[in-house]
Amino acid sequence: MAEPRTLTPDDAPLSGAAVVRAEQVGDAGIIDKIVLEAFGPGRFAKTAERLREGAVIEAGFVACLDGRAAGSVRLWRIRVGETPCLFLGPIAVERSERSEGLGAAMVQACIDQARSLGSAGILLVGDAPYFGRFGFARVDEALLPGPVDPARLLWLPMGHVAVAGPVMIG
Ligand SMILES: CC(C)(COP(=O)(O)OP(=O)(O)OC[C@H]1O[C@@H](n2cnc3c(N)ncnc32)[C@H](O)[C@@H]1OP(=O)(O)O)[C@@H](O)C(=O)NCCC(=O)NCCS
Repeated sequence: MAEPRTLTPDDAPLSGAAVVRAEQVGDAGIIDKIVLEAFGPGRFAKTAERLREGAVIEAGFVACLDGRAAGSVRLWRIRVGETPCLFLGPIAVERSERSEGLGAAMVQACIDQARSLGSAGILLVGDAPYFGRFGFARVDEALLPGPVDPARLLWLPMGHVAVAGPVMIG
C-alpha cells in the first residue's frame, strides 16, 4: 500500500477543507459504503470486479472533506500480456460532494503513484468523456476476462510501452 500522503493545494485545485490521502486499514468500511452508494450491488457482476477478485491492491486513496471520507479509489496490480501495470477502480465520490474536484484529485493521486512506481501505465473501465482529460484513451488490444464496452476500456501510457494481450492479475 502507498505511504500516507496529502495533496497540497499545488497538486490539485481543491478547497482548503479537502485532502486526498492514502487509504488506511480502518478505511475499508467507509470505502465499501461510498462504492455501494455509487454503483449499487450490481457492480459485483461486472467484468472489472471479476478482474479485481484475487488481485493485490497496490495503493488506495481517500478524498476527505473536513476530515470526513467522501470519496475513494484503488489501484490494483495487473498484467496486460507480459506487461505489469495498474488497474484503476472503483472510483467514487459521494453524490452530495461531486463536481468539487475530489474525483480529479484522486485520479491525479493514482497517476502520481503509478509514475513514482515506474509503472508502464494505468488501465481502467470508465467513461472516456471523464477520464480523457487525464490522458486516458481507448485501447482495443487489451483483452479483459469478460464482456466490456470497448469504448470504455481506457489506457494511460507512461513511457513508450504499447500494451496488448489478455488482462490478468499481476
Ligand atoms: C466519476 C466521479 C468519481 C467524479 O467525481 P467528482 O468529484 O464529481 O469529479 P470532479 O469534480 O473531478 O469532476 C466533475 C466533472 O466531471 C463531470 N463528470 C462526472 N462524471 C462524468 C462522466 N461519467 N462522464 C463525463 N463527465 C463526467 C461532471 O459533470 C463535472 O463536470 P463540471 O465540472 O463541468 O461540472 C463521480 O461522478 C462518481 O462517483 N460517479 C459515480 C461512480 C462512477 O461512475 N465512477 C466512474 C466509473 S469507474
